[in-house]
Amino acid sequence: MATFTKLAVAFLAAAGSLAAPLEVLDVVERNVTERGEPDFTLGAHNFRKRQSPNYSQDYIASGANVQFTPNGASFGVTFNTQSDFVVGRGWTTGDSTPITMSGTASFTSGVGLLSVYGWSTSPLVEYYIIEDALNPPQQGTIKGTFTSDGGTYTVWEHQQVNQPSIQGTSTFNQYLSIRTSGRSTGTVTLANHFKQWASYGMSLGSMNYQTVSVESWSGAGKVQMTVGKSAAGGGTGTTPPASTSVSGTQPTTPATGGSCAAMYGQCGGTGFTGSTCCSSGTCKAANSYYSQCL
Ligand SMILES: *[C@@H]1O[C@H](CO)[C@@H](O)[C@H](O)[C@H]1NC(C)=O
Ligand SMILES: *[C@@H]1O[C@H](CO)[C@@H](O)[C@H](O)[C@H]1NC(C)=O
Repeated sequence: MATFTKLAVAFLAAAGSLAAPLEVLDVVERNVTERGEPDFTLGAHNFRKRQSPNYSQDYIASGANVQFTPNGASFGVTFNTQSDFVVGRGWTTGDSTPITMSGTASFTSGVGLLSVYGWSTSPLVEYYIIEDALNPPQQGTIKGTFTSDGGTYTVWEHQQVNQPSIQGTSTFNQYLSIRTSGRSTGTVTLANHFKQWASYGMSLGSMNYQTVSVESWSGAGKVQMTVGKSAAGGGTGTTPPASTSVSGTQPTTPATGGSCAAMYGQCGGTGFTGSTCCSSGTCKAANSYYSQCL
């Protein structure tokens, strides 16, 4: 029975669908009838809270011809516009849990971006992990490239001067990871991006909203997308959700040189379970997701 239960839960998690058979599983902690959208905890098997999308990103500049239809964890958008818009579905508070996207994106002219999109404050940052695009903007500074989730990303940093932001007109940095070969379905391991950005000194502050969004200007296209947070780490990522506090349980490694992180190695961050000491340098937090021996 134990084996069956584990398999059943693993299957349900993998299928991204947690509907009917749950009541037969003894690991379910909450009363099924009390649920609205799936957002609950499975106990005992290290399955983590699934976070349903609870936020619609809905910025459409006046005059933009955009039909946006958010619906639970899904949204559709059809556009043919000169003016800018950014619409999508996501979460009022972002974190580093991997995000799953499933759907289709067709950008037929102009600029079209399908991105994990969000903001942090202190510092104020607008970030994009651009998964699929037509004519993505290339402005600012290339910081480097890295691989994640089966693709190569180029990281850019770009300063916006006196531009609209979640804190009004401000000057702030945009962080962009742009995937070389686009996709509209897959898992985005955010922790890999946050870590890579941190290694370039691109730190994030408090997480504000976080969505899977479509942006365009002078473009036409159509996107249909369903989004979610990965249940158990997903993709190539091993980082649990930021909401899982590890500060009290993080293993402390004896301060012997051999088992400590080397210079530039990771030595902490939400979900990190490796060595928290440095054989060389001092462990410094770049952001809450990544600390490094420097
Ligand atoms: C489940 O919720 C229903 C409706 O609120 C309630 O009547 C029932 O007693 C609950 N069952 C358990 C096992 O908590
Ligand atoms: C929306 O989801 C995020 C992430 O799970 C959570 O932190 C936030 O509290 C939720 N907001 C609402 C209004 O439910």
